[in-house]
Order: sequence, then structure tokens, then C-alpha cells
Amino acid sequence: MGITHIPVLLAEVVSYLHCKANGIYLDATVGSGGHASKILKDNPEIKALIAIDRDEDAIKRARKRLEPFSQKTFIFQDNFINVRTILKKLNIKGLDGILLDLGVSSWQLEDPKRGFSFRLEGPLDMRMDRNLPNTAFDLVNTLSVSQLKQILYNYGEERFAPRISRALVAEREKEPISDTLKLSKLVTSSIPPSYRQRKIHPATKTFQALRIAVNNELYNLTAIIEEGIDLLAQKGRFCVISFHSLEDRITKNQFRELAKEHSFDERGFPLRDIKPKKIKIITKKPITPKPEEIMENPRARSAKMRVAEKL
Ligand SMILES: C[S@@+](CC[C@H](N)C(=O)[O-])C[C@H]1O[C@@H](n2cnc3c(N)ncnc32)[C@H](O)[C@@H]1O
Repeated sequence: MGITHIPVLLAEVVSYLHCKANGIYLDATVGSGGHASKILKDNPEIKALIAIDRDEDAIKRARKRLEPFSQKTFIFQDNFINVRTILKKLNIKGLDGILLDLGVSSWQLEDPKRGFSFRLEGPLDMRMDRNLPNTAFDLVNTLSVSQLKQILYNYGEERFAPRISRALVAEREKEPISDTLKLSKLVTSSIPPSYRQRKIHPATKTFQALRIAVNNELYNLTAIIEEGIDLLAQKGRFCVISFHSLEDRITKNQFRELAKEHSFDERGFPLRDIKPKKIKIITKKPITPKPEEIMENPRARSAKMRVAEKL
């Protein structure tokens, strides 16, 4: 397959991560190792890079690409929310920097068998980790109209969620919705004709929503920000690259909360022990790719990077 994944904001990641001699770094979404190999190449003085991805195929590619650095690279197929257990296995107590490059890779998107793309015919799968219990097929063919509606609203911000959900349930009563193109056509035909010819494909949001639900992506993001900040050493940096507004909002809000001192609990009662600020926000506004990068790699156009530093 002639697929390549071009890492986004590559120079910016290396510059903002501020790697230091003997530091230990985590690439929590290593993919095919584009960012990881650049970090290792540009910072030969770091002690170790821990690389995680939940996708078996990505791990195989990362192992190959990171082979020249195998002495100091530790690669794990796992959900990044299990980072603490991974560090325990390596007898590592803290990290000096973390990178999260969210979303799917071009490898995942452009492989029809994975079922992520509304343009390529394939099974409705969408699991990043093929050990996950539920595929997109399971959700589309078993959830109620109201459950589907919630998914499309909450994870896709799809304004036509009710129409689409009703159309999916009506169709599957005739026969299961088994492939990506069938789903994509059903979504297109269920929205008003005047919305069918927009710049963005009508099935974009539905596919995004199902992918997020199948992989529990927003929960994972919230959990890793909390866990990752706790694991960082003083002055350690946390870089998060997101590709849609839901991910960016979670990152922005969580960073803001962690950058505040908390003197009251959730019910508004004063706390006996004030919870101090944990981080300083480095990027008041997110870093976005330069026009040259977007020209070369259109996938980069929606990327936003936010960076925080542990206090
Ligand atoms: C945009 S790609 C990363 C590309 C990578 N930075 C590179 O340069 O090749 C995102 C990757 O994150 C992985 N991923 C997403 N959520 C994950 C999670 N909760 N735990 C581990 N890996 C995850 C996906 O499987 C995918 O390979």
C-alpha cells in the first residue's frame, strides 16, 4: 500500500518538548514513529523514550522505524491510560516530557479493512485496538435511536443527529448496515438536500462520532491529561496535538483547571488544604501549522497544539 503518515507540527513538537540530557520522555501515541524518531534524532542526549500505541499494526511499524534507537526506546502496545503500570514495569518513577498526537493515523484511515473512512469500502470496524469488544457495526446495528442520537450529538456535534439516527434504525430493520459506504450513503440521504453538497462530506461527523464512541477517546484523553501531569517531573512539558474541537476543548479546559489554585471543593465549601496549581500554560493560544505545512500535508489543517509545564 502506498500510504505514508506525515507527522504534524514536527519542528514545533521538538522545540516545545524542551528535551534535556538524561531526560525520560513518553510518546503516548507513537503511530508509525514519525515524531518519536525526530525526537530521538534531534536529542541524542536523552536517556529513554517510552512509546505507546494501542494499534498492533502501528506498533509493528514503530518498532521498525525506531530500530536504530532500540537501546533507549521501550515500545508497548497498550492504551495510554495504562501508563502508570507501564512505568512500574520499567521501574521508572517520573517523566520529563509527554507527547499526545491524537486521532487516527493515515495508515488507519486509508486502510479500507479498518473501516475508518467514509470514502473507502470496508467493514464497519473503527477499532484502533482490535481487541476492543465493540465495533462501529455493533453500535450502528444495536443501539436505540436515542442512544445513537446522543453519540452523534456528543461526539460529532451533528445537528442532524435525530434524522440520521432514525434513518439508521429504520434501515437496519430491513438488513444490517454492514459497511462504510452503505453507512455513508445512508447519512447523506437522511440530511436535507441543501446540506449534501457542502465542502465537508455529510458523513464526516457521524464517522467521527462513532470512532470516538468505539474507542472511548474522550474519556481516555481526560484520563491521560490528569495522569500524565501527575507523572511529570518539575518543568516537564506536556504537548497535546488535537484534530477537532471536542479534543481541543477538553485539553484547554483541563489545562486551565490544573493551572488554577483550588481553595473550594466541588460543592463550594472551603478546603482545609488548598490544592496548589500544578501547571503553567505555555501556549496561551494553540500552536497551528504554517500555511506551507498545510499545503504539503492537508491533514494538518485542523491540528492544534497546546503545551503545559509542570510546576
Ligand atoms: C495521529 S496518530 C500518531 C502518529 C504519530 N505521531 C507519528 O508520527 O507517526 C495517533 C495514534 O494514536 C493511537 N492512539 C489513539 N488513542 C490511543 C490510546 N488511548 N492509547 C494508545 N494509543 C492511542 C492511534 O492508534 C494512532 O496510531
